[in-house]
Amino acid sequence: MALERTFSILKPDATRRNLTGAVNAIIEGAGLRIVAQKRILMTRAQAETFYGIHAARPFFGELVDFMTSAPVVVQVLEGENAIATYRDVMGATNPANAAEGTIRKTHALSVGENTVHGSDALETAAIEIAQFFAGNEIVG
Ligand code: CMP
Repeated sequence: MALERTFSILKPDATRRNLTGAVNAIIEGAGLRIVAQKRILMTRAQAETFYGIHAARPFFGELVDFMTSAPVVVQVLEGENAIATYRDVMGATNPANAAEGTIRKTHALSVGENTVHGSDALETAAIEIAQFFAGNEIVG
């Protein structure tokens, strides 16, 4: 087991429906510790950089529009195997395929408005965390 950090976003569909506390309760219930957190309105430039890997996808414009449409909560989560643990807790990207009890099964509206983002690997977690947090904002 390894103590890891992963990057999380509570997306606009979560802030609009006042679900940040409900989602955080699921995160903490899974044994993950929220070691940094802030509520921001993402700029288009931030969203385009963050999702740059998806720039050629047909849904890219829709994704950037959505992520800048309302506040998001960006977070750093810490725990044993945090990356895989959080991906399990989030559930499948499309809530129609997500397992019972996961955040997306419980709260997501669609594949686009899917409530949360979580890093897919250690390397991407480090890049994503560094885009939004200075080292002294993360207090484990
Ligand atoms: P996320 O984990 O934040 O990473 C990329 C996001 O693109 C993904 O979650 C989805 O919210 C979004 N996405 C993936 N497929 C589609 C799609 N077909 N239409 C709209 N958004 C999508």
